[in-house]
Amino acid sequence: MRLTIRRPDDWHVHLRDGAMLAAVAPYTARQFARAIVMPNLPVPITTVEQAIAYRARIEAAAGAGFEPLMTCYLTDSTDPQELVRGHAEGVFTAAKLYPAHATTNSSHGVTNVARITAVLETMQRIGLPLLVHGEVTSPDVDVFDREAVFIDRVLMRLVADFPNLKLVFEHITTADAVDFVDAAGSNVAATITPHHLAINRNAMFEGGIRPHAYCLPVAKRERHRLALRKAATSGSAKYFLGTDSAPHARSAKESACGCAGVFNAPFALESYATVFAEEGALDRLQGFASEHGPHFYGLPLNTGIVTLEQVATAIPDTLQAAGEAIVPFLAGQTIGWRFGGSEVDDDAAGRV
Ligand code: DOR
Ligand code: ZN
Repeated sequence: MRLTIRRPDDWHVHLRDGAMLAAVAPYTARQFARAIVMPNLPVPITTVEQAIAYRARIEAAAGAGFEPLMTCYLTDSTDPQELVRGHAEGVFTAAKLYPAHATTNSSHGVTNVARITAVLETMQRIGLPLLVHGEVTSPDVDVFDREAVFIDRVLMRLVADFPNLKLVFEHITTADAVDFVDAAGSNVAATITPHHLAINRNAMFEGGIRPHAYCLPVAKRERHRLALRKAATSGSAKYFLGTDSAPHARSAKESACGCAGVFNAPFALESYATVFAEEGALDRLQGFASEHGPHFYGLPLNTGIVTLEQVATAIPDTLQAAGEAIVPFLAGQTIGWRFGGSEVDDDAAGRV
């Protein structure tokens, strides 16, 4: 069987910088027309100038035909005027809220959302979406509860205080998050990763410690995975594709203190297609991958198409990136779909 959908976008990806960027950007550009690029570089992207320079490096690494959509990393001292300028100049598509110390390169993140009230007021006014890493960071909160506690302690209030703020709850991992997003207004949406649709927390402990299944927010119980699958395949416009592909060298993952992140870009669409096929919802993949995101962000749909073929595909154990081995999601496994390439012409999408 062969599936054709309008060219999709990845609404949440980590492309890194330097040699790693050069190695990983082509995987994302091969499958997606656009991507929302996370700003959590070791020196985070906090200014319009940094974003313009980073965008140029991404374009050079990804090649023609791929559009990186840039985000601003929010800190306690973000100047609202920087966002206004970046938005007006077409540089910032969104701004990212990392609670300080929640994850990789988040030490400059926001220590308390009360400190960025003026920023959020401005974003609400100009229509710049807020992308949220939704986890509390208090060490006294169990790591598996951090998303649910974030909803109660932070998100409920934030959404109430800024009722017209466009907000994307990124990489949701719990039934609690699905309930929250379902109940919220149309200004609130969520991205869902392929790995959180495919694995539950057992995957991190299958016969031993499995660092390549570790990411943040961490995978949760099976009942949560099932709630995510239901949401993603429901047809609801509130849910869209965001891989959270987050490459780290194998040596940095297989360590006494391994980095968080799953590198799923090389087989992203194949992974999502597997889930949608298992759920009997292949007819809804196009909405999730190619339509709901642009509608939420107020961007045009892509022209062109991609095809997916139902053919057994072996995923390699490792790939090479920046002179190091890197382990892709589902390494060593065989999945039932193969990416068949894309056509970018204007009328191709009319045929789907
Ligand atoms: O697992 C993750 N890896 N979660 C994040 O939020 C950040 C990401 C990264 O940058 O490595
Ligand atoms: Zn991420």
